[in-house]
Amino acid sequence: MLAERNIDVPASEIRKVYNNIIGRTDVFDMTVGIPDYDTPQHIKDAAKRAIDEGYTTYTHNAGYIEVREALAEKLKRDNNITADPATELICTAGGMGALVLANLVMIDPGDEVIYPDPGFVSHYAHIKLAGGIPVPVQLKKENDFGITAEDVANLITPKTKMIVLNSPNNPTGGVIPNKELKQIAELCIENDIYVIADEAYEKFRYINEEPQFIGSFEGMKERTVSIFSFSKTYAMTGWRIAVATGSSELIGAMTKLQEHIIAMPTSIAQKAAEAAAIGPQDCVNEMLNTFRKRREIITKGLSEIEGIELHPPGGAFYVFPDVSAYGVKSYDLVYKILNATNVATLHGSAFGKYGEGFLRLCYAVSTERINEALSRLDAYLPKLLH
Ligand SMILES: Cc1ncc(COP(=O)(O)O)c(C=O)c1O
Repeated sequence: MLAERNIDVPASEIRKVYNNIIGRTDVFDMTVGIPDYDTPQHIKDAAKRAIDEGYTTYTHNAGYIEVREALAEKLKRDNNITADPATELICTAGGMGALVLANLVMIDPGDEVIYPDPGFVSHYAHIKLAGGIPVPVQLKKENDFGITAEDVANLITPKTKMIVLNSPNNPTGGVIPNKELKQIAELCIENDIYVIADEAYEKFRYINEEPQFIGSFEGMKERTVSIFSFSKTYAMTGWRIAVATGSSELIGAMTKLQEHIIAMPTSIAQKAAEAAAIGPQDCVNEMLNTFRKRREIITKGLSEIEGIELHPPGGAFYVFPDVSAYGVKSYDLVYKILNATNVATLHGSAFGKYGEGFLRLCYAVSTERINEALSRLDAYLPKLLH
């Protein structure tokens, strides 16, 4: 009864764990990536004002022009990307909305698309949805889970149409060093390859290197869709708002498709994003400082547990410890840990075949919860070795 694409597009493995812990107050949940911060007050106020002032009807399919102007300012300020608000920007329903549109406008059936593995589960699904052939590039722990230009070069064939990049990466926290990013861009130009740059964790970086964005490199704008979500940066996961930028040809095609799918993201979320983009940014810095401290606590605590090998993440708000020493599949280990300690984690294999042997823990939770989870893990995991 169902069309073939329903079979091709897998359900998220994350749900296999998450659905079993929903509503359980006894569980220390370190599974899904939802910041434990609330949306900053000035953003909420802007949304309330938008409702009262009548921003409640359909908008342009790419979003209100004044919102796009504000987003263009943000891109210039934070990402060194120059975009014409009239033609090179689109507001989308979260990063997810932009990812689907970008895949659909760039991929033809049979095109090969290189994507990060371990990686965000929907990247694979979106490629399949567009009829593409997913080609995983392994994020290796010995490279701190960053992708190298050599890794990419080894996978390029005459059929390679696109590469999906996500740095900092979910689930590993890996960051692609600027030198490699530059070389990947050169490879893309040489081989006529398009790029989706999923910048969902653009602000969540804990390494010293000044961030660079592939969409800002010379010659890359015409072949890159850069996606900046407001979900994580401004604690707005439920608002469903992001901005995508690229050439007028790519953004025009995405805008045309969006018209036929959701018309545009919610008018009120657009006005909230406008306030987030040009309002005070101290809320972001405050959140980042907290995350930086939590990262230190969790990396130190996990490294001290017998059997765990940890490569400290350069970004995002996840740790991805190697747990292969315990000698069980990561999915089974998740349930062993959950049953014995009430700490909920995710199996690395939920994020691709190269994720086997690892666990993902999200540290966007309180320090108390991190400390309690660490002491429970420390009391339990070493027993599996003896
Ligand atoms: C790498 C990555 N991209 C995109 C998304 C989607 O985020 P949203 O649609 O809320 O912007 C997520 C969410 O977890 C993510 O981790």
